[in-house]
Amino acid sequence: MKANPRRRIAVLVSGTGSNLQAVLDAIGSGALDATVVAVVSNRADVYALERAEAAGVPTVCLVPGPGEARSDYDARLVATVAEFEPDFVLLAGWMRLLSMTFLSRFPNRVINLHPALPGQFPGTHAIERALEAAQRLGLHRTGVMVHFVPDENVDDGPVIATAEVDIHSDDTVETLSARVHAAEHALLITALRAVVAGAG
Ligand code: GRF
Repeated sequence: MKANPRRRIAVLVSGTGSNLQAVLDAIGSGALDATVVAVVSNRADVYALERAEAAGVPTVCLVPGPGEARSDYDARLVATVAEFEPDFVLLAGWMRLLSMTFLSRFPNRVINLHPALPGQFPGTHAIERALEAAQRLGLHRTGVMVHFVPDENVDDGPVIATAEVDIHSDDTVETLSARVHAAEHALLITALRAVVAGAG
């Protein structure tokens, strides 16, 4: 066995997967020394799965059953993800709350990306809410963060990295989203490089 094996990352997705692509590209270019061992989606037919397949990464689609209890789904998710023996589980556009059934199985190993700064706009539509705050309250800046997920608190936990994003007076949801997503793609790689370098 190598003394310093490449860190194994399982990526959980629900949608487009542009952040997954940023990770795959960074690994491909040598900017990130890691391996994506699996991409798991809670939704069928999402573009993120196509991106993973194009990169030759194993994919699993695990759609919740009708009325399935969260703890039952999360137990299935644990079994699925654990099979790939990841060092880290990255939530990259994963749009489903995770319970302690899942989180306690991967302590200090689950990493989330959120398009807002710590403590601001947790939950969905963070970019839209930041723009609304800019228009109504004069907010000049939002941002993005990457953090560990220790518990069920939404978009909260020990911060790994943040980046600020200016809000322009003529911004629309589209223009601000484009700037926030570009910041996410860069920050995610910075954060993963730090985590991978620090992993014992
Ligand atoms: C990102 O803005 C992420 O922070 C949020 O959902 C979006 C996912 O984008 N949670 P993508 O699927 O990576 O393109």
